[in-house]
Amino acid sequence: MCGIYGCVGTKNAVASAIAGLQKLEYRGYDSAGIAYINGKNKIEIVKALGNVENLKNQVNEKVFSRLSIAHTRWATHGKTTIENCHPHFSENFVLVHNGIIENFEELKNEINEKTYSETDSEIIVKLIEKIYKNFSNNSMENDKKILFSIKKATEKMKGSWAVILLCKNNPKKMFVFKNKSPLILATNNKESIVASDINAINGDEKSKFKYFNLNDFNIAEISENNIKIYDKNLKKIKLKEIKKQCEIINLNNNYKHKMIKEINEIPFAICETKKRIKNKDFKKLISQMPSFSQITIVGCGTAYHAGLYGKYIFEKYLGVNVNVELASEYRYKTQIKNENELVIAISQSGETADTLAAIEIAKKKGAKTAVITNVCSSTITRMCDYVILTHAGTEVAVAATKSYITQILALYLLAYKTINKRISKNIGQVAKTIIDLYDYNFFKSFEKMQKFFFIGRLCDSASAQEASLKLKEIAYVHSEGYPAGELKHGTLSLVDDNSLVVAIITQKSVLEKTLNAVHEVRARGAKVIVLSQFDNEIKNENLFKLPKANEDIMPLFSILPLQLFAYNFSLSKGLNPDMPKNLAKSVTVE
Ligand code: AGP
Repeated sequence: MCGIYGCVGTKNAVASAIAGLQKLEYRGYDSAGIAYINGKNKIEIVKALGNVENLKNQVNEKVFSRLSIAHTRWATHGKTTIENCHPHFSENFVLVHNGIIENFEELKNEINEKTYSETDSEIIVKLIEKIYKNFSNNSMENDKKILFSIKKATEKMKGSWAVILLCKNNPKKMFVFKNKSPLILATNNKESIVASDINAINGDEKSKFKYFNLNDFNIAEISENNIKIYDKNLKKIKLKEIKKQCEIINLNNNYKHKMIKEINEIPFAICETKKRIKNKDFKKLISQMPSFSQITIVGCGTAYHAGLYGKYIFEKYLGVNVNVELASEYRYKTQIKNENELVIAISQSGETADTLAAIEIAKKKGAKTAVITNVCSSTITRMCDYVILTHAGTEVAVAATKSYITQILALYLLAYKTINKRISKNIGQVAKTIIDLYDYNFFKSFEKMQKFFFIGRLCDSASAQEASLKLKEIAYVHSEGYPAGELKHGTLSLVDDNSLVVAIITQKSVLEKTLNAVHEVRARGAKVIVLSQFDNEIKNENLFKLPKANEDIMPLFSILPLQLFAYNFSLSKGLNPDMPKNLAKSVTVE
């Protein structure tokens, strides 16, 4: 959460940082701020509440500057106020920070100084200042003093951070350090950029950039023509170049929102993933799959729902026991050691703090680890034994759409390829048909209902939970996603004539059973929509007819109209579906 950006050697550092921040806005959009070195070598700070556009309106993008650092915020400590907005500063330093300092209260007591904000980030800058001042009588060069101050400060800090730091006494350099929060460094030896996400990096001559991942506790000292990287003992080191950049699908920008653009990219994302998933790790993993006696899938939110589908497809075809765990629970639960266990993380961003922690724990207990992710340069790809890449392209809207569908596709392909089963053809085309078939009018009249329930059995229950999450997330309505058989064990008491129940029925074996639930809710006054390909069997229902396809991949398709419904519902309430309140795309804090 929060996006940070810094550049040095850039012709127009303010404009570059603002453009970078706009690409990082998916990480948080409560407030934004920038610090830049002006023509007189002085640090100027500008902050604005709200999104990056507000900041852009407050700065002169043409002002002379070769160095700037910037931040877009998702509040963790302290409300959305100018005081809490980054950059944070002390007498000699200014910084931007992404992450959480868990022991900030303790450090605050140690600093024992009045603070102007409620943030943990202010404590970092004040801590560095305090240590730096202890060196004031020392004959060491200023750069060395800064490096030592960072080293000593980070030894005291607990939590996660990616920080870009400026020092008033050395306005030609930025100092960058991290632990757990992501940070990418790009350089062509004249201009250097650091950012929370590789896709945010722009620059004067981007084509000449080399890209690097900064490792935890490394410190980078970056000026126009020089980059020095140090390890935690301040020994100079070299970073490994990231060989390949992730490709970005950029089919068409003529959409009102990123979310609808990304939904329309689904057919292409499916084809790309199907074609390109077969890397070395994928092949190795399918050859190893039969040797695992236990599979655990971990993820959060939508990725967890994809995991529920994984359980269904793996247990059906591989005959192996699969547990699906919320990463935020898995990391704290009692671990039971299994011989030959595979732990699969699912994460679009590859940066979700809980999912990274879950993988760390899985590794400690000796399990093999795999990740299904959409971001090839993400932290999780450096942690896992097998990296399975989906090729959905960049997903910016907070609501996961194309990434979810490609995660399901990846799980389906893993299962089918392991047992050498024939892969369905034309999956992309079927998805396109559904997008074309979708008619908002079919759903619109139900928006006046007060309660929304999504139900299904087997893999349809995963789709039901995902559909419900989408509606809550972007249309701000209360809804429930349930395995159809569970309603009558409690939740049915909520169902009345103010309720819409959406039943997803794509699995023939449970068609009649789910229809029973439909009759039960209708008897309590609920309005019902059924999504199914079984039009011959389902009569007298308000049916959204899905195209006929292999049942195992129907969850790729049945979620599509419900993603579109959530999008339209959000719009009809006058909301911005790309930036739901209180949320951010990449959840890099606990
Ligand atoms: C889905 O619409 C959400 N934005 C959210 O649940 C998301 O899937 C979750 O935070 C996990 O993110 P990840 O896939 O990047 O790990």
